Amino acid sequence: MRTQVGIVGAGPAGLLLSHLLHLEGIESIVVETHTRRHVEERIRAGVLEQGTVDLLNQSGVGGRMRREGLIHHGIELRFNRRGHRIDLFELTGGRAITVYGQHEVVKDLIDARLQADGQILFSVDQVSVHGFDGKSPSIRLRSAGEPLEIVCDFIGGCDGFHGVCRPSIPADALRNYEKVYPFGWLGILAEARPASEELVYSNHERGFALLSMRSPVLSRVYLQCRPDEELEEWPDDRIWEELQLRFQTDEGFRLNEGRVVQKGVTAMRSFVAEPMQYGRLYLAGDAAHIVPPTGAKGLNLAAADVRILSRAMANWYRNRDGGLLERYSQLCLRRVWRAQHFSWWMTSMMHRPDGGSEFDHRRQLAELDNVTTSRAAATNLAENYAGLPFEVI
Ligand code: FAD
Ligand code: PHB
Repeated sequence: MRTQVGIVGAGPAGLLLSHLLHLEGIESIVVETHTRRHVEERIRAGVLEQGTVDLLNQSGVGGRMRREGLIHHGIELRFNRRGHRIDLFELTGGRAITVYGQHEVVKDLIDARLQADGQILFSVDQVSVHGFDGKSPSIRLRSAGEPLEIVCDFIGGCDGFHGVCRPSIPADALRNYEKVYPFGWLGILAEARPASEELVYSNHERGFALLSMRSPVLSRVYLQCRPDEELEEWPDDRIWEELQLRFQTDEGFRLNEGRVVQKGVTAMRSFVAEPMQYGRLYLAGDAAHIVPPTGAKGLNLAAADVRILSRAMANWYRNRDGGLLERYSQLCLRRVWRAQHFSWWMTSMMHRPDGGSEFDHRRQLAELDNVTTSRAAATNLAENYAGLPFEVI
């Protein structure tokens, strides 16, 4: 098979890249190891920055998001049994976030690609990438048991943190920066009305907790746990009991409880591979960088990467100008590192430190006091949370 851009991975990065390239008149084939059902049902991120929302709308895939997404103008930071609202909208001059599940974005993108006769090969295996140090890269795989080779001009490495693209780059050509945190998140999806209209990030001496949602009747709630926490140790009753403690306020706040329909543990890390390109292989999204989820940045960074990559490729096809492609990594990394800093900062301000040092807890409370009483500090949080403006290219 032959196409212009071969894309490894049908997560948000790969699918949005394929869609944006299509709008530029560039053909692509996406290959994915999981089934369509699996990628459409995988519960992950939930917060879209204003810029991501604008990008989805401008590229014609925002219809359902506009109908079903929940627009939030603020978030709450809770500590010392009291809530403090950060007014994102007012502090950023009118920016907001939209709560709309990543799997819904994925469904919308798959629909758009298939309606435009785009090719997505699901359930493939033995994927490998070749020849990207020359002019004719290729992706080899097995599809329905048959070997297949896709020859292309460029490869989009959008296969997430555990994919094959990044490890295929010679080790001495990449530099990895990494920080692993001594905690994780136990997340549940529950059939319960969210007890707050806006997200609540709670710093509690027993550990961090986050109340989010997927709809007016579905709560998405997380609690800080060990990175290797065994789910068997957390029957639903224990989860609710712990969550009620961590969200307690002097006004008697209670979470609404309901049937738990999904449960999982995620370990946390910060990671960046530099540069995000090698020859004709371009990494985007989690394949190139990971942030801890406290800043809600992962999916948004993936969207920002492929926005730049699609424009850089369009410039090459249209004008045979490879300038933007050469600068792809450099153009992405500024935003990536800003998001790394913000995500690390939110994580260290909100989580119970390893060993539970009393000094660190007092320092966190002082920082939260600052963020919730100083307009300058709150504005800094709001600008980063709602999303920095895109790079002008
Ligand atoms: P992925 O979504 O990982 O997609 C990669 C795809 O490649 C997958 O479908 C995978 O199956 C496929 N693949 C892997 N290997 C191969 C191979 N060899 N061949 C072919 N295909 C392959 N981000 C936010 O912005 N906001 C949030 O609120 C947020 N919350 C989160 C909460 C949790 C619990 C978690 C786990 C993550 C959260 N994130 C959040 C992060 C966000 O989900 C990721 O950053 C996002 O999924 C990155 O998209 P991606 O397309 O780069 O990678
Ligand atoms: C989510 O809704 O899944 C979510 C929201 C905010 C975060 C992380 C995850 O910071």
